[in-house]
Amino acid sequence: MNSPLAGRHIVLGICGGIAAYKSVTLLRLFVKAGAEVQVVITPAGKEFITPVTLSALSRKPVVSEFFTANTGEWHSHVDLGLWADCMVIAPATASTLGKMAHGIADNMLVTTYLSAKSPVFIAPAMDLDMMAHPSTQSNLDLLRGFGNHIIEPENGFLASGLVGKGRMEEPENILKVVESYFAKRQTLSGKKVLITAGPTYERIDPVRFIGNFSSGKMGFALAEECATRGADVTVVCGPVSLSLHHPNITRIDVESASEMLEACRREFDDTDIAIMCAAVADYAPAEKSDSKIKREQCELPVIRLVKNPDIAATLGRVKRVGQRVVGFALETDNEIENAREKLVRKNLDMIVLNTANGKDTGFGTDTNSVTIFKADGTAPIVTGLKSKADIAADIVDVLI
Ligand code: C5P
Repeated sequence: MNSPLAGRHIVLGICGGIAAYKSVTLLRLFVKAGAEVQVVITPAGKEFITPVTLSALSRKPVVSEFFTANTGEWHSHVDLGLWADCMVIAPATASTLGKMAHGIADNMLVTTYLSAKSPVFIAPAMDLDMMAHPSTQSNLDLLRGFGNHIIEPENGFLASGLVGKGRMEEPENILKVVESYFAKRQTLSGKKVLITAGPTYERIDPVRFIGNFSSGKMGFALAEECATRGADVTVVCGPVSLSLHHPNITRIDVESASEMLEACRREFDDTDIAIMCAAVADYAPAEKSDSKIKREQCELPVIRLVKNPDIAATLGRVKRVGQRVVGFALETDNEIENAREKLVRKNLDMIVLNTANGKDTGFGTDTNSVTIFKADGTAPIVTGLKSKADIAADIVDVLI
């Protein structure tokens, strides 16, 4: 079977650490998988492994300096960054992690990283105390937050003679991580996915609203998952304090249910899959006051409510053959019957029932536990308690 890396362009970044000897095997594995590999090595990296070995195996001159000293030929990190389908930095030393996290672009590897638009995989390798240092950990958190994939080091014997966490992951496993990323990416490539996420705020006056505790975490996890699998994703979200990382995600911020519906209507025509994850307020105040309602104005104000549009049902009604609409349900009573009823009434293809009663599930948590019902009547799928990212992967697996 063809590796999903066949024909891909990989920039392999090598830093100055003992584990650089393993990069030769990694390079060999990438080449065997059919990838075209360009090695970029830091000046310290060359002290550990010779560019001759690396260029012979990659069949390309190894890049290390900004220009070749004797000819003055400039090496464009920008071109290299754009050429890459992915960048793999293995081993990544504490120093390079720090430079990458803070944009200290004093070598070809870091400038290429800053120019790369592709996914980046980072396999750190260092002594256990350096690895555990808050400075290294905070740099790794920053890099994770930028959307990079960290391939955690293993526990084991270290070059220092100590034993602990810091050994670079074995090349075979790094290959597996990168391969499975690309294999996954093919599953939704060419598809357009629309996702609603977060709460909606329905204004009462300029400073007050009716809303709910939805954080947007589940919808954002779904967006990242679909984008990772190659989809072109649009997220229409209510007020949330989260950020999205994948370059294939477009974010449209809205406030109220009617604004969310308007944005979804605009996007839906060329959408293949719509996932309605937002906790849309069911009602909005019938009148919005232009100025702040004062306590002195009225002892007990009455807020008359009107029903909000049902976005999922609207899209379910107008969907064409081939378009899929997925809904969510959060129930406290008769969960299964209510979820099934919604699946039919809103003309959905699938509904994800959240468990509302657990402390680790529902609004604001990082974990969730769901049951997935499909319109074709096949047996529901129960995920059990997992991170929202893993739940997102399960939902997309069922969808596919
Ligand atoms: O009817 P209920 O609010 O329980 O249905 C939940 C599902 O419907 C979710 O997928 C939610 O995003 C969607 N919904 C919507 N517009 C509304 C209310 C709910 O899209 N006004």
